[in-house]
Amino acid sequence: MNSKTVPRQRGGCLAPTDLNLIRRPLEFIAEDHLRERLICAALDRIADSPLPDRGDLEMVLSFLELEFSLHHADEEDGLFPLMLKRCEPEDEIDKTIVRLQAAHREAALSKPKILVLLRDLLHSGDSPDIEARDLLRAFAASERQHLIVENAIILPIARVRLTKDDLTALTRGMQCRRGLDQTS
Ligand SMILES: [Fe+2]
Ligand SMILES: [Fe+2]
Repeated sequence: MNSKTVPRQRGGCLAPTDLNLIRRPLEFIAEDHLRERLICAALDRIADSPLPDRGDLEMVLSFLELEFSLHHADEEDGLFPLMLKRCEPEDEIDKTIVRLQAAHREAALSKPKILVLLRDLLHSGDSPDIEARDLLRAFAASERQHLIVENAIILPIARVRLTKDDLTALTRGMQCRRGLDQTS
């Protein structure tokens, strides 16, 4: 059985997604998307600022280091397979999921570069150069696009198609990924 550990709290001034919400997994994912939208705004502020705010840098670093991969795994290993199983052909969900999987791969490839860049900015106190600004803005833009698709297509269809047992299975996977005791 997994030990009952709670992941580190999210950094900065933003509240973490309430872990009690994990029993309503689609709401938990929707909350993570709100969080991600704020992270994108912080990425844009960092790109636009001659003196990036340390709180923004620490918040985005914390998100990318602790939450980003977990959220992708919640979707790739939990939500998407359930949707492929439950959705009707007219939903055409397979095409949407292929697009999102490609977006996840692209984001995972960009993440190490973004982390190095943000850590450098945090330690140096410098402003980002043009190349860094372009990278930050492109990452934020790509993430926003991906969020729009998930919020507008994936989550509404999931709310209709997934069964109670599917949602329980989704919760179990999310708890397991976070090392949470499933019986709590
Ligand atoms: Fe997502
Ligand atoms: Fe996603």
